[in-house]
Amino acid sequence: MSEEELELESLDGVGPATKQKLTDAGIYSILDLVSRGPSEIADAVNIDLSKAIDLINKARARLVELGRLEKEFVSATELYKKRQAIDRISTGSKNLDDLLGGGIETQAVTEFYGEYGSGKTQVCHTLCVKVQMPKGQGGLNSGAIYVDTENTFRPERIAEIAENYDLEPEDILSKIIVAKAYNSAHQELIVREVGRLVEKEKIKLLVVDSAVAHYRAEFLGRGTLAERQQRLNRFMHNLLRIAEIHNLAVVVTNQVQAAPDVFFGDPSRPTGGHVVAHTSTYRIYLRKAGKNRIARMMDSPYHPEREAVFILDEKGIDDPPEDIPKRK
Ligand code: GTP
Ligand code: MG
Repeated sequence: MSEEELELESLDGVGPATKQKLTDAGIYSILDLVSRGPSEIADAVNIDLSKAIDLINKARARLVELGRLEKEFVSATELYKKRQAIDRISTGSKNLDDLLGGGIETQAVTEFYGEYGSGKTQVCHTLCVKVQMPKGQGGLNSGAIYVDTENTFRPERIAEIAENYDLEPEDILSKIIVAKAYNSAHQELIVREVGRLVEKEKIKLLVVDSAVAHYRAEFLGRGTLAERQQRLNRFMHNLLRIAEIHNLAVVVTNQVQAAPDVFFGDPSRPTGGHVVAHTSTYRIYLRKAGKNRIARMMDSPYHPEREAVFILDEKGIDDPPEDIPKRK
């Protein structure tokens, strides 16, 4: 596919001025245009919602023509083909991979939620190394983008995990692009730039650690809840579209809060409410159990709700020592 076919100006109705406004909003190509919602485009270019929808439809039609996007009505065969293009990244733990049906999927948003220290950030670090390994070894031979909102990305930890897989730390580090997000608006801006990076570099993993923290911190009180949920909704949908258009895996982390209305069982609930719940393709709840970590698959469309035990060690995410001999 040539670059010109994706240029904004090649779309009917996009002149230099519109192009400039789109570029200012971080929309550089037809791919970016399709990955945004109509209200966002309308705001960026200062046009009516109906015109924005029109523009997005033109962009969609172009991508369908180019074979990058499926049509509204697709045959089950085409869907099957698209699903066959789904790749998987190993987490480093066979137990956790089994729970996920073979690893983290591309074309999907996988959410890990759990209390502090449950291993969310460690899962993200390990995946950034694993994605770079060859296909036969659980990777996709590709790089990663790490959006760090809590300032917890640690290159030394990446180097340690790489070394324990007999990989060259410097080589591995050079293929992880880290973006520190200082607030929710900045986090949204960074994700808008991702499309461009992904086309340029070979990226198969996008991590957002954590997806919800800034929104929680910035929108306090009941009065701001609607706006918070709207912004979060837009953000999560952007992530899902990026995953689908670029065939990459998106992994987000999320904290938990106590649900006051739960009297039996575990009262922990992921933050972000329905918005995050409905957009994440897979949700995995992590909890501590002594030295072990337990992962539970929650409301997946087709995985049974069950649990897997893993540990955190020099390889990042790993299987408990007692489980490893069973695999030989
Ligand atoms: P929050 O972001 O605070 O909500 O927690 P989290 O779920 O992201 O936890 P994180 O992934 O940071 O896990 C922290 C735990 O990982 C620690 O309690 C340690 O047990 C373990 N851990 C962190 N760094 C290392 C390391 O370098 N080596 C090993 N073996 N374990 C580590
Ligand atoms: Mg963390």
